[in-house]
Amino acid sequence: MQTNIEKAILELNNTGIVAIPTETVYGLAGNAFSENAVKKIFRLKKRPAHNPLIVHLSSADDLEKIAKEIPETAFKLARSFWPGPLTLVLKKKNIIPGVVTSGLETVAVRVPNHPLTLELLQRLQFPLAAPSANPFGSISPTKAAHVKKYFKGRLSTVLDGGECERGIESTIVGFNGEEPIILRHGAISIEELEKVVGSLKFSTHNEDKPNAPGMLSRHYSPATESYLTTDVIKAMTSFPGKRIGLLLFSKRVPDHTLIHQEVLSETGNFKEAANKLYAAMHRLDKKNADVLIFEELPEKGLGLTINDKLRRATNRKI
Ligand code: TXA
Ligand code: MG
Repeated sequence: MQTNIEKAILELNNTGIVAIPTETVYGLAGNAFSENAVKKIFRLKKRPAHNPLIVHLSSADDLEKIAKEIPETAFKLARSFWPGPLTLVLKKKNIIPGVVTSGLETVAVRVPNHPLTLELLQRLQFPLAAPSANPFGSISPTKAAHVKKYFKGRLSTVLDGGECERGIESTIVGFNGEEPIILRHGAISIEELEKVVGSLKFSTHNEDKPNAPGMLSRHYSPATESYLTTDVIKAMTSFPGKRIGLLLFSKRVPDHTLIHQEVLSETGNFKEAANKLYAAMHRLDKKNADVLIFEELPEKGLGLTINDKLRRATNRKI
């Protein structure tokens, strides 16, 4: 592991790109102060230039190096959730090049909670810009093996930090003055945030196109045609003779003709379901099914986050 971190440091000091583990999903990281490094991330990921990146810091102490006019509420959230799966969108300082933020005057920032990546960040002289380590539009990676498969031959260093503990992206919060606004559902539930800052609003912000709110997007998608439903048994009747794979919340379906079933949490635990979501999607996608059917979860707590990801992963609702 140690030699791997040394290799990552060399690579990053040389404007190279390295895959890093975080508690949410793996990231494709480069020097956030280097336009060259950041451009390489966009190219490797085939990410549209209008979709800004998250900057990862080793500690909240460095926040004021990259952001300004920081609301008191933001400090409060940082104290409560960092290191952890919360991203704050703040006014940026000039040290952050425009390529990182797609020309926006704000920068998204978080302190990830993974020992290997925290050590890496502490040993670097710059923060790391990192989107999730998947080609644009594909399922996010929660294991080093997912990243290696996606970027075979095109990425020399994957820092293997094991399986991601949360398995789902960070929650993104922006500000209107002091007022926090949720921009993306993620690993921290609204209820957890509200305990710290009181009642919260959502934005119609679209995470793929922060400049063009409200547009629908497909994201985190399996290659297989996939559908979202609240009634799996009924949905299955829409695909007679097809090879069907299921992604279920807590109960299996007694049908031997199914090609594969993934149950996210037999005890109906949201946190477990979030943790297993992407790995289950990766497995289902490899089963050569004609159609995948995803079951919607109850709309509360992390159920909201998971449903948001399921909506983006599927072709349509049936
Ligand atoms: O958990 C995570 O957040 C992971 C790990 C690697 O940290 N990263 C991640 O990055 O999910 P990515 O690039 O897949 O998603 C970042 C999201 C994008 O949807 C982008 O639109 C939004 O953050 N974003 C970045 N900068 C922003 C800004 N200045 N204003 C609004 N949204 C922003
Ligand atoms: Mg992503």
